[in-house]
Amino acid sequence: MYEQVSHSLLNEILTDLKPEILEEDLRHFYTRLGANFYSIHSLFVILYGKRDDFKVQMQKLVETMAGQYIQRPANLKQIDLARENDHNWFLSQEWVGMAQYADGYAKNLSELQQHVQYFLELGVNMIHLMPMLVCPQGASDGGYAVSDFRQIDQRFGSLEDLHNLAEEFHKYGILLTLDVVLNHTSNEHEWAQKAKAGYSKYQDYYYIFDNREVPDMFEMTMPEVFPETASGNFTWDEAMEKWVMTVFNNYQWDLNFSNPEVFIEMLDIILYWANQGADILRLDAVAFLWKKIGSICQNEREAHLLLQLMKDCCQVTAPGVLFIAEAIVAPVEIIKYFGEDAINAKECEIAYNASLMALLWDAVATKSARLLMQGIKSLPDKLERATWLNYVRCHDDIGLGYDNNDIRAVDYEPHAHRQFLIDYYTGKYGESSSRGLPFGHNDKTGDTRISGSLASLVGLEAALDSGDQSEIDNAIKIILLLHGLILSFGGIPLLYYGDEIGTLNDNSYLEDPAKANDSRWAHRPHINWEKAELRNTPGTVEYKLFSALKKMIAVRKEISAFADFNNRELLDVGNPHLFVFERFEYVQPANRVLVVTNFDDVPQHLNLADIGRKVHFRNDTIRDLYSGEKPAMFKEDLVIPPYRFYWLTDQ
Ligand code: GLC
Repeated sequence: MYEQVSHSLLNEILTDLKPEILEEDLRHFYTRLGANFYSIHSLFVILYGKRDDFKVQMQKLVETMAGQYIQRPANLKQIDLARENDHNWFLSQEWVGMAQYADGYAKNLSELQQHVQYFLELGVNMIHLMPMLVCPQGASDGGYAVSDFRQIDQRFGSLEDLHNLAEEFHKYGILLTLDVVLNHTSNEHEWAQKAKAGYSKYQDYYYIFDNREVPDMFEMTMPEVFPETASGNFTWDEAMEKWVMTVFNNYQWDLNFSNPEVFIEMLDIILYWANQGADILRLDAVAFLWKKIGSICQNEREAHLLLQLMKDCCQVTAPGVLFIAEAIVAPVEIIKYFGEDAINAKECEIAYNASLMALLWDAVATKSARLLMQGIKSLPDKLERATWLNYVRCHDDIGLGYDNNDIRAVDYEPHAHRQFLIDYYTGKYGESSSRGLPFGHNDKTGDTRISGSLASLVGLEAALDSGDQSEIDNAIKIILLLHGLILSFGGIPLLYYGDEIGTLNDNSYLEDPAKANDSRWAHRPHINWEKAELRNTPGTVEYKLFSALKKMIAVRKEISAFADFNNRELLDVGNPHLFVFERFEYVQPANRVLVVTNFDDVPQHLNLADIGRKVHFRNDTIRDLYSGEKPAMFKEDLVIPPYRFYWLTDQ
């Protein structure tokens, strides 16, 4: 949009650009800057407009974008142009992701490159590598306590190894996703070290206080993220003799985004990783970016404005690069990370669907889809050109972040219901064979979250121990059922490494004092490649899972109704055990697929005539796209076997 105040400032900025920037061919840069400048300027004014150095910072911001544009490799600039032309590219059903620790999946980056065939075999074509940057020894929070935002830890290899991997990925059409940990640095980061040494410039990079006055005010409303290991949100620093805000672990210092220098530094880092070949950047803990006394310091309006500004700036320099919002917050809040009051996504194009994830775990434990149905029904439609990252497990715990109103709407009492889920997944409830572990118990609120690998949570570990074949088969069916949902729901399915071969909890973390008090390490495995080989041996668990997932992925890619264009309709079929929805093709709604899942351990009936007049699936021609089979019928009803999913068509 053309607007005179911002445009005259833009003219001034462009005239004053450093000579080395002026010399470059910046044609595409200038058109994109012109298109986004009004928005960039408006956001920068709201966030930093009251500062005396506003203009200086604005100049620096533009020079940062231009500097990184000049650095951007030509092949990536080509990709930017191609994606501009094909702007819905990431909504296609052809994308299937997998998240992994590079040093858990392989030894390091170069060994990982040797396993690219494994991804191709399974069909995953978007790999999220968890953070690999330099961290403090031991106190790393799994890579999320970064000491140098540009330096890959030598355990993983070098920047060159990453370039080689990115090139290899691109050769095979695999997207590379990398993390940018925006909210905090480790206490060993150069900025933190300089702050400790007394430099006020760097003390302003963080939230640092001389005494408890302000921290105590914050504490009145701020929840605790890791109550067991890092109680409170502030840490006393001996060197400075001051309090530092540390919302996560005490070695993770929160960055002060009310300082534009911090914004510009972090934008530079985002663009730096975009330039190293990342197609997608996972922005960590985005809900926490803005702190305000009297609030929970999550989901603040300014956190959204910061993300919008980052997106606007990234579109100028590297428009082909997408953002994933990692905001594990209340269902109604998550959706706002696509950007509110817009048509197209204007913050992050992709967001973790933590709501679906948690609801799936409810359905498994209760054998009922009631809360799942209610929770999904309550979610507003997302924006256009925005998509979910649908997952069952990831490197973090499972938080029971349901909306209490939804829990009550299906006649559970919120506290008692959450307690049931905790007991169920930690194996304390009735005959539950789940081997989950409690995580993040908070004595004050009674909250607990759950760790554990998918296979151990659904009872595979217990079944293998007891040798009960039918229990083993049930656990396999549940794993496939859950994947059947994330592969068809709408969005990019994100598998978690190891789940495709039924990896169990790894309790060796208990022997490492730096990890022992964080049960999330139980599900951050080192892949056992000998076990992974068993995927080729019929009859093994690894084979059953891997070959089924491989087929599901291949079939998903062929079903255009599974692309994500708000083309899903939930169907209430009056049977609490079944979760049923229709997916239809955006351009040709008549091309549709009926997704039917049964969470119960006994067969359930479904009468196609009962599910509303919109859906007239024909009994005589109905068949499952995954198995190619026609479901069994009893009179006029389809019979849905226990823990079974169907992707039904009648064409
Ligand atoms: C994100 C990460 C989690 C980490 C936290 C703090 O939630 O997924 O692993 O502990 O951020 O960085």
